[in-house]
Amino acid sequence: MAEKQKKYLNWKAETDDEGILWCHLDVPDRSANVLSSAVLEEFERFITDVEADLPLGLVILSDKQSGFIAGANIDEFISIKDSEEALEYTRRIHKLFNRLEALACPSLSLIHGFCLGGGLELALACRYRVALDDPKTRIGLPEVLLGIHPGFGGSMRMIRQIGALQAMPLMLAGRAVDGRKALKLGLIDRLVPERQLHRAARAMIRQQVPQKKASAWARLAGHNMLRPLVAGFMRRELRRKANKEHYPAPFALIDVWEKHGGDEKDMLDAEARSIAKLFITDSSRNLVRLYKLQERLKSKDSEVDFKAQHVHVIGAGVMGGDIAAWCVLQGLSVTLQDREPKFIAPAMKRAHKLFKRKLKQTRLITAAMDRLIPDHKALGVEKADVIIEAIVENAEAKITLFKELEPRIKDTAILASNTSSIPLDDISRQLKAPERLIGIHFFNPVAKMQLVEVVHSASTSSAWLDRATAFCRQISRLPVPVKSSPGFLVNRILTPYLLEAVALWEEGVTAEQIDRTAKSFGMPMGPVELADTVGLDICLSVAKNMADTLNITIPDTLQQMVDKGHLGKKSGRGFYTYDKGKPGKNKNAPLSSMTDIEDRMILRILNECAACLREQIVEDADLLDAGMVFGTGFAPFRGGPMHYARARGLEDVVAGLAGLEAKYGERFSPDASWQALIHANDPG
Ligand code: NAI
Repeated sequence: MAEKQKKYLNWKAETDDEGILWCHLDVPDRSANVLSSAVLEEFERFITDVEADLPLGLVILSDKQSGFIAGANIDEFISIKDSEEALEYTRRIHKLFNRLEALACPSLSLIHGFCLGGGLELALACRYRVALDDPKTRIGLPEVLLGIHPGFGGSMRMIRQIGALQAMPLMLAGRAVDGRKALKLGLIDRLVPERQLHRAARAMIRQQVPQKKASAWARLAGHNMLRPLVAGFMRRELRRKANKEHYPAPFALIDVWEKHGGDEKDMLDAEARSIAKLFITDSSRNLVRLYKLQERLKSKDSEVDFKAQHVHVIGAGVMGGDIAAWCVLQGLSVTLQDREPKFIAPAMKRAHKLFKRKLKQTRLITAAMDRLIPDHKALGVEKADVIIEAIVENAEAKITLFKELEPRIKDTAILASNTSSIPLDDISRQLKAPERLIGIHFFNPVAKMQLVEVVHSASTSSAWLDRATAFCRQISRLPVPVKSSPGFLVNRILTPYLLEAVALWEEGVTAEQIDRTAKSFGMPMGPVELADTVGLDICLSVAKNMADTLNITIPDTLQQMVDKGHLGKKSGRGFYTYDKGKPGKNKNAPLSSMTDIEDRMILRILNECAACLREQIVEDADLLDAGMVFGTGFAPFRGGPMHYARARGLEDVVAGLAGLEAKYGERFSPDASWQALIHANDPG
């Protein structure tokens, strides 16, 4: 192969013996390729060169192991000042991708791993797409997750490629698909094993096979007569899942398509104008902020290079069973221990269901089941790199177990408890090496909740904390280090909020109104339904656990309901009555005229956040925000509770609390740390 251009920093171009130009993207000093302005500027020059000296065909590929292109450069989004700047930026990229599309020679994207956002938009501007048949191949346009919609021509091109009925749901949900699904949808032309990747690309270029386009049937929904009807239907469906005020981007995408979907040029222009407005919304800024926080939690912050191969989980109940299955799904071998085989069987069944849903192919499901080994005799303890205890929440039982385990485990193995309320010191002080015990606190359901609190006691060493954090990253969970203290971080902040909801209910506000108020603030589920879902017995026991140290009062109702066996969803009755797992909500429930329902709930959250920062339960406010969003789904478009408090005005939060204290009592008394937070926010 002859190396053609040596003048690029991010791209490397080589022409092979057949005259095909292979253009490799390899952005220096990054593990994944992103389309920064620098990368795109070079690509502009590259396209000019290609236009001047046409090859037989152009293949665009990535030299990164992580994949093709992960998207645009998010850091540059933050620096966009206004809509004009955003519009100029978008139009320039439109022009560039139009030139790529208009090349007189065939062009092809050769995809492996991530092909997301701007990466897919570039690939869609090529004549062909060939992808690697591998579970790691992920193809999609996830822009709405950042509060925008596709803006590099992707909305027009994806619809053109596979039709609006298939493209819009993917873009509206920001969902990525694997290679098989992408092939079925028509997003890619070929899905091939690694050894055939380059050969397949060459063959497509040489044969100049006709370009794949959406069938006439798939294009029907885009017809001028039908589009408004389909758009109306999509808008109604979307409204069920998202609030337009909070998440304007997907609604804007429907508008763009409805009004301009009949003409490709018009659609591109409307896409650019729409995204230019979205870029600067609070919703987008806050979602980008969360994305950056997520990156922070994912990135390695210590030198520790811990890699587990074998995990031993003790307790095959709700949590242990699901933790074991999740670790297997991440490629690890797991031995799962319980008192008797009959307690392990339900967990094996649940794991099989999860593997079927996530892995789809029989070969992969069988391999996963082979890695999950029932182990009631505890034979895996000596071999494991990580031991996670998830037995009943009883300090005595846990202490006995850890004392048995300690002399048997490998010197290098992580020793962890999934306890949600027992102080780690109570257990670790009974051990020979107390510095070793760590809390790895997962959230339920494990496969859905990304957050893991990595809990350290006064005696835990930083070396073990670093290892546990590395392990959480290895299994694709987001670790937030927290200090051992009642409720740790997330449950502690959530408890006053749930208790306030019960207090409101006691005062006659209906469950429906309480939940609706919280949801209109942006919570994924109202607090009453959440309490019912978690189980009122569990809420009560967590609250009691915290009541001793945190000076909280537990509304009588909670104890009374638990005494009556009204435990929530699991018993069929709690604050709501459940039919096949669904709460019976009364749409016509009477409305209370109380005006401070939202503040009573939300300000209790914020006050507890301030207390946690004062007690250094978590290192900083950003980590706290990440914990609350990824652990509870706290209104993502608000960027986390402390970010919301700052946006609202810290003085306003304190004044709100003081007003509620005067009306309802000392549970609203502003935490002592607010003044320091106000000063830190505005030292001038
Ligand atoms: P569970 O009651 O569903 O399961 C506990 C399992 O441990 C049972 O299968 C039991 O047979 C087994 N077990 C009890 N003693 C044992 C022993 N000595 N050796 C081996 N197995 C033993 O309980 P769940 O809900 O899974 O909770 C487990 C732990 O996870 C608790 O510490 C809990 O606080 C914590 N947790 C629970 C969450 C939840 O939502 N359920 C969330 C986060 C943490």
